[in-house]
Amino acid sequence: MNHRCLMQNPIRHQADKLALGLLAVALFAGPTVAQITNPPSIKPLRAVDPGPRPVGNQSIAVKGAILNKGIVDTIQPKDADGNGAGHQLANLTPDQTAFWFASLAVFGEQATVDGASDPSTNNPSIRGLGPAFNGDSCFMCHSFPAIGGTSPFTNPQVALATAKGAQNALPPFIVLNGPIREARFPGDALSGGAVRPLFSIQGRSDAPAGCTLAQPDFTTQLQKNNVIFRIPTPTFGVGYIENTPDQTLRSSFEGTASQRSTLGIAGRFNTNGNDQTITRFGWKAQNKSLLLFSGEGANVEMGVTNELFPNERIAGKGCDVHELPEDTSNIVQPAVLAATTAGNAASLEASDIANFGVFLRLNAAPSQCAFDSGVDSSGAALCTPLANSGKAASIADGQAQFRSVGCALCHTETLTTGPSPFASLNNATFHPYSDFALHGMGQILADGVVQGAASGNEFRTAPLWGLGQRIFLLHDGRTKDLLEAIAAHQSPGSEANGVIQSFNGVTDAQRQDILNFLRSL
Ligand code: HEC
Ligand code: HEC
Repeated sequence: MNHRCLMQNPIRHQADKLALGLLAVALFAGPTVAQITNPPSIKPLRAVDPGPRPVGNQSIAVKGAILNKGIVDTIQPKDADGNGAGHQLANLTPDQTAFWFASLAVFGEQATVDGASDPSTNNPSIRGLGPAFNGDSCFMCHSFPAIGGTSPFTNPQVALATAKGAQNALPPFIVLNGPIREARFPGDALSGGAVRPLFSIQGRSDAPAGCTLAQPDFTTQLQKNNVIFRIPTPTFGVGYIENTPDQTLRSSFEGTASQRSTLGIAGRFNTNGNDQTITRFGWKAQNKSLLLFSGEGANVEMGVTNELFPNERIAGKGCDVHELPEDTSNIVQPAVLAATTAGNAASLEASDIANFGVFLRLNAAPSQCAFDSGVDSSGAALCTPLANSGKAASIADGQAQFRSVGCALCHTETLTTGPSPFASLNNATFHPYSDFALHGMGQILADGVVQGAASGNEFRTAPLWGLGQRIFLLHDGRTKDLLEAIAAHQSPGSEANGVIQSFNGVTDAQRQDILNFLRSL
């Protein structure tokens, strides 16, 4: 906190080196001042979550191969390994890079019901929004701290409810300073706990005249205590996860069997009914691949039917006038001939969901930066290597404590990918802080939704990479506070109970070290 105030001090118009020097002095000065003003007998403060690292004020507009006015995306600093939220993998070829930027623009492209261009920007839109929907672009829900991420501070669903003249009522769990959410009714026999999109296209100026579709009855379901929420998961580094062989996941998991059993941690993998391999994506590891999640996201979140999910889930009356699927692979068209690069042409020929799949696969992993990295005098976010932080010792102890109390028995630090045509994904070591297995998390976290092998209280170990820049935590976004997220791990039936007991048993200073470490991920 001091850090950011200091950085905004108008005196700091000097070279970076000098600025860092002043900062180091200021950090050392902190505790001395505290010792003078506080009596020596005072108890140490409770551990406090340092909060998300600042995103800074740098941005870039990306037009890709299709947009007239670019998608404005924040720029995050890379770490020493070249990782960073919102960047493409290092070592891509020029054509792969061009495709990634082109697909980023498609990921950011707005969906409308009729597919008309936006008169204010002249940007094309993806045709086929609705009849029911939660969002109108992938970017809308995956935007923080950069494109591909998760919920931003301000929930865009509030404005979307009434966009283009619609009159959707806002369910009480959608608020301006809360997380983006989707809802399920777990006890509803008809829907089997399926996603119930929040909004209808009824009344929008781009919807067919006479289209009628009511929103789900959230009031009644809330009264019956039958609504659960999910927030978006970030997609940085998901190509590494997809490219990890089943055998690697299984042998890493089996390697901790005896340590886990002494602490009561079981766990198992979710698998896919079609080929029985391990599924890895989503809060319950319910989804097999990035292309599949793209197809599902397009249909479930936006109502855009596609070659993987060709049928509308919720039709309404007179709302659904398009030939299906709405998104398809394109045969070569004039726009392709005019394209300047092979990468752009490939993006234009590919379906939207194929674009999304490539964008996701080639997303760089999130960076590791000290939690107190702060911003420079111009407001740009900085990435201080962990060992160079004024709090390096605390961060290092936090990592040691994270291991010794047993967090790392589920939040596996390191895995290795298999062979890949992309250099960065080829037999590469990565640090997701997840075993990608399901664990019973007890009554407090249970959501009652069954997905594949995952039962009502089982969740995929949430990958903790990128945690340093996350606002909302846990599957339903119920808290912003790391300590609350950790406390929620403990309840009757949770496999994490033993580990949380150890966490509660360390000193406040050690707990603070763990939090400082977590906000450096
Ligand atoms: C209305 C908000 C919303 C929109 C729009 C949206 N998503 Fe998501 N996304 C979510 C939520 C919520 C989850 C977690 C779902 C779950 O696991 O139950 C998620 C999860 C994902 C994941 C899984 C990542 C992981 O590691 O678990 C991927 C990949 C993804 N979305 C891609 C997309 C793509 C591609 C689009 C555009 C077609 C899209 N999303 C549009 C809300 C959204
Ligand atoms: C038994 C396995 C297990 C252990 C042990 C465990 N976790 Fe978790 N952790 C999970 C699962 C599963 C989730 C997702 C729960 C949910 O969202 O409902 C999670 C979520 C989290 C989150 C929220 C991440 C997000 O994306 O919102 C944090 C932070 C976290 N764990 C930190 C820790 C720390 C620190 C420890 C050690 C004190 C720990 N965990 C121990 C399984 C575990």
